Amino acid sequence: MGVRHFLTLSSLCGDELLSIIQRAAILKKQFIEKNFETTLKNRVLGMIFEKSSTRTRVSFEAGMAQLGGHAIYLAPTGSQISRGEPLEDTARVLSRMLDCIMLRTFAHERLERFAMYSDVPVINGLSDSYHPCQLLADMLTYYEERGSIQGKKVVWLGDGNNMCHSYMNAARIFDFKLIIACPEGFDPDARLLEATKAFVSIERDPKKAAKNADLVVTDVWASMGQEAEQAQRIEKFLPYQVNADLMACVNADALFMHCLPAHRGEEVSAAVLDGSQSVVWAEAGNRLHTQKALLEFLLQ
Ligand code: CP
Ligand code: NVA
Repeated sequence: MGVRHFLTLSSLCGDELLSIIQRAAILKKQFIEKNFETTLKNRVLGMIFEKSSTRTRVSFEAGMAQLGGHAIYLAPTGSQISRGEPLEDTARVLSRMLDCIMLRTFAHERLERFAMYSDVPVINGLSDSYHPCQLLADMLTYYEERGSIQGKKVVWLGDGNNMCHSYMNAARIFDFKLIIACPEGFDPDARLLEATKAFVSIERDPKKAAKNADLVVTDVWASMGQEAEQAQRIEKFLPYQVNADLMACVNADALFMHCLPAHRGEEVSAAVLDGSQSVVWAEAGNRLHTQKALLEFLLQ
């Protein structure tokens, strides 16, 4: 088999994803004990960011260091990419120097094009369409807190965005039921909805959607690149805020997740984000462990 990329969750099969999540749990234990295995000694990851990041950058960079390797950060400005050097050329050059490349970009097609010209594994660090690395962390977090997610009910509230699309893929792969509560005009991709319809449905009424849910997930109402739409979106999305009223509809032991950064008072109330059902800090921390396991999987 040729080089493997991780552009969406569907780039890997369910068993491969589960093995990454299981390995992440072991790496997490080693991290807590400060007992590191340097499985990626002398390996170098390049990280190209065309958008901002805190968690993705730090988790990949710290992860490579802990595994005995190194990471190089290319910021949204400063490299020749931002001055117009074709992605295809950058991919061919960098894959002669690096062992793996993470790209955070706008159109998903940019990632696909980059991967086509790269001789080393390419990881999607977020595109306008998908954020698969976040899902690895979310699935580990659910597993740690509640066990298997198979057969559970997950409610997504807000925009049918990149995170929502990755949840749709996760529903199909990990066999859970996903109800998407989004305002009209902000539906997820129709083709993906068709492909995942055995696991995913849309319910406009947020409270109906949330009824008896085991996991509640939301994200910002205006993603990176949509800043100009922020004000007009707030009005349409307000009924989809995750607050105490909404949480009253879900199962008593339901969890709340958010990929962060969060806007308290917009998509989620401060009381929910900082409340007892919220696992957002564990979720963010798990980015480190799941991405280390992903890097090992792709590089070994
Ligand atoms: N959740 C997430 O990807 O965060 P960053 O944008 O900070 O990387
Ligand atoms: N949907 C958000 C996720 C940020 C991690 C965005 O794309 O900005």
